[in-house]
Amino acid sequence: MSRFRTIMVTGGAGYIGSHCVVDLLEAGYEVVAIDNFANAVGDEDGSPALQRAEEITGKKITFYKADLLDKPQINDIFDKHKVDCVIHFAALKAVGESMQQPLLYYQNNLLGMLNLLEIMRSHNCYQMVFSSSCTVYGEPETLPITETHQTGNITNVYGRTKYFIEEMLKDLSAADDKWNIISLRYFNPVGAHPSGLIGEDPTKEFTNLMPFMAQVALGKKPVLTIFGNDYNTPDGTGIRDYIHVMDLASGHVAALNLLSDNHGKLKVYNLGTGKGVSVKELVEVFERVTKAKVPVKYVARRIGDITAMWADASLAKQELGWTTKRSVEEMCTDFWRWQTMNPDGYPKKNKTTVIVVNGKS
Ligand SMILES: NC(=O)c1ccc[n+]([C@@H]2O[C@H](COP(=O)([O-])OP(=O)(O)OC[C@H]3O[C@@H](n4cnc5c(N)ncnc54)[C@H](O)[C@@H]3O)[C@@H](O)[C@H]2O)c1
Repeated sequence: MSRFRTIMVTGGAGYIGSHCVVDLLEAGYEVVAIDNFANAVGDEDGSPALQRAEEITGKKITFYKADLLDKPQINDIFDKHKVDCVIHFAALKAVGESMQQPLLYYQNNLLGMLNLLEIMRSHNCYQMVFSSSCTVYGEPETLPITETHQTGNITNVYGRTKYFIEEMLKDLSAADDKWNIISLRYFNPVGAHPSGLIGEDPTKEFTNLMPFMAQVALGKKPVLTIFGNDYNTPDGTGIRDYIHVMDLASGHVAALNLLSDNHGKLKVYNLGTGKGVSVKELVEVFERVTKAKVPVKYVARRIGDITAMWADASLAKQELGWTTKRSVEEMCTDFWRWQTMNPDGYPKKNKTTVIVVNGKS
């Protein structure tokens, strides 16, 4: 356990945020979570994902429906709580949407981060864990990818927001020694908490492979579209480093331990398993463990998609003392449990999408 007590979790009602909150509570932290429900189920009464995180752990979460673009509102929350460290998950993350609405993505992800950093500084809070992504590497030149691989050669706007933020954090930590930041570059998070109580339920149209595959297995969608079976890989489909969301969550607890004991200014770590799995292999494992059929249709590659990408996660092992523990089978079993226990996701009072722009819904 670190010397930190209160952790602010932005985007706490989202997929990775809600799973991470479970681990934080179990590790003994107080959690103050905020979310504007741009891509999570919830309303003025709160977040069902976080209510279930409370059920899983038997502990309480302080939650605010709040938007990072609303600076006075976020400032008030920092006035109310003595935050020791921020885990910053809140962002818009749909690659396709980011290409159609670049200003929305730059505004939300970059301005949201700027507001947060300024408010943290004015409240003497200089510790942060940032959700970055392996997308900052662009098309890999070498595999597995280490943290020293060049970044910036990115083909989509969402990925560029992560890259620009990492550059911003470099400048900030170079200018002021007080900052102590860890940027975690996630590979491909999948799966769900083993209780089946929390999982992935975005309010925007989802494009991630596993939720889509599960919808097909449930018969809610007719077929799983796979983009490209002519890649230069053993079975022709793209290869990714899938990581169980609970392994990813424990990486954040490990990052907090390091931040609290060590002033590294800005450190960057890959969070992945170090193993590449093809889309076809993932579908086969999913079918095997769920005993459900997933009809697939192969179509042309998507522009900007990468052939193969997996992590060298040895730096995180050495410096964070963190490794992944869960298999691809567990990723599929746990996701399927969540999906079958909650075929329509979290309970929704009102099924319309919540779109929040400039803090007004
Ligand atoms: N899921 C992935 O495949 C993946 C991979 C790499 C990195 N990441 C990053 O990890 C983080 C969490 O991803 P996730 O999969 O949980 O996504 P998510 O969409 O489920 O969670 C993000 C949450 O942030 C909230 N949010 C967005 N803008 C906000 C704002 N201005 N103010 C307050 N809340 C806001 C959303 O409502 C959502 O609940 C994101 O930063 C994402 O870019 C995700």
